[in-house]
Amino acid sequence: KIIVLDYGSQYNQLITRRIREFGVYSELLPNTITAAEVKAIAPKGIIFSGGPMSVYDENAFSVDPEILELGIPILGICYGMQLLAYKLGGKVESADNREYGKAQIEVTDPENALFKGLPQEQTVWMSHGDLVKAVPAGCHVVATSKNAPISAFADDQRKIYGIQFHAEVRNTEYGNDILRHFTFDVVGATANWSMTDFIDQQIAQIRATVGNKKVLLGLSGGVDSSVVGVLLHKAIGDQLTSIFVDHGLLRKGEADQVMASLEGKFGLNIIKVDARERFLSKLQGVSDPEQKRKIIGKEFIEVFDDEATKLNGIDFLAQGTLYTDVIESGTSTAQTIKSHHNVGGLPEDMQFQLIEPLRTLFKDEVRDLGEKLGMPSDLVWRQPFPGPGLGIRVIGEVTEDKLAIVRDSDLILREEIKNAGLEREVWQYFTVLPGIRSVGVMGDGRTYDYTIGIRAVTSIDGMTADFAKIPWDVLQKISVRIVNEVVHVNRVVYDITSKPPATIEWE
Ligand code: XMP
Repeated sequence: KIIVLDYGSQYNQLITRRIREFGVYSELLPNTITAAEVKAIAPKGIIFSGGPMSVYDENAFSVDPEILELGIPILGICYGMQLLAYKLGGKVESADNREYGKAQIEVTDPENALFKGLPQEQTVWMSHGDLVKAVPAGCHVVATSKNAPISAFADDQRKIYGIQFHAEVRNTEYGNDILRHFTFDVVGATANWSMTDFIDQQIAQIRATVGNKKVLLGLSGGVDSSVVGVLLHKAIGDQLTSIFVDHGLLRKGEADQVMASLEGKFGLNIIKVDARERFLSKLQGVSDPEQKRKIIGKEFIEVFDDEATKLNGIDFLAQGTLYTDVIESGTSTAQTIKSHHNVGGLPEDMQFQLIEPLRTLFKDEVRDLGEKLGMPSDLVWRQPFPGPGLGIRVIGEVTEDKLAIVRDSDLILREEIKNAGLEREVWQYFTVLPGIRSVGVMGDGRTYDYTIGIRAVTSIDGMTADFAKIPWDVLQKISVRIVNEVVHVNRVVYDITSKPPATIEWE
């Protein structure tokens, strides 16, 4: 296994993920870990992540110096490199300008283990303020660039390496190769980690944590909470109770499908709450998106709370928190990027301990996990769906009539995307009802009806997105079906903006 010490970079978990993609188990650990703890874990290699600090900051994250003496190969990335240089007697200084973006490096020691066999000139992704100005004793420079003369250093004897750029991001052309070289050529790791091991580990861990106590889970109908449900059920059976709130803002057929699969097939014990009326009445007359979000979020927690208090003796609350939620909500060392979305929405007085078995996973890893657990692919491959659901896809005030239009048009879109075999290519696709009406003709008559917007994007993680280039004939079919089959729609438009500057959702 290779451990990654967390110095707060927004990319830190990506490092772990890349290593896992090589089939080598990797996890992210706090930078306060001691040498004794590292020894107990016995990793074959250690990576120091990047981070937003300077080694000269007053409370700069540091490292137990004895970790550097354990004889375990170390790779420092960005801040990690600077920290290594600083701790081993090299020199770190602040650069005149912060460097951010793509840069060209030249490999000056092509025989070096990290760069062996790779082109001499490479594009890398830089993001740093400080620079290493002198390498520590025993190390030599292996790559250089205009703004960072010491872009990489190495001590092949002690197996200590530093790179100034972020090898873990896709913008670094040979980043994956460099990490692979560290993993296999330097560390000598064996590729033997798989999702099946993860399942076994998690099940053992859940059983140990929960004992004979009871766990409560909020099912949303989405991939994450469903996978958590199936995993927990496998681990602790009927000690798990799930609550599924139907807030009326789900897609067509979704509630039934979730129940049929999770309750029917997997045997989960689910309390289904029909709160459709309750949500609609709270949303009446409200058109501001943030306010709608707040109402839906608050109402959800209240409904959930009402049900939860009816149950006795529950000690744990399970959540489908993913690693991206953790980064985006700034609850780890990574600096806050975005503060809405799933985490942190719980009332403070809830008396539960949290169980978050997916906390270290990315979406695609969760899907893999779901498939390994035997879940049906239409559930596992379900596209991301926002907590406020169709409530933010009816622009402005939400009414049952408008929800019906979105639900029906969305179903047509989903069917046609599936028929065209584009389900996995397009990351998220849905219809929105902007609430504008326009003139049309139908038969002999003039109509004055609603416009439906189609939004379809490709993305890796939802942070950035491109509009999906769906073939014209598929779009045409969707459009024809929507105007023919959905009453009160006479026009369909396709959203051709990327994120940024637009967001994926319309509100
Ligand atoms: P945006 O619209 O911010 O969407 O580009 C990025 C991803 O987040 C989802 N999204 C939400 N998810 N609560 C959620 O749980 C929300 O309020 C929310 N708003 C957007 C969106 O569907 C996309 O996948």
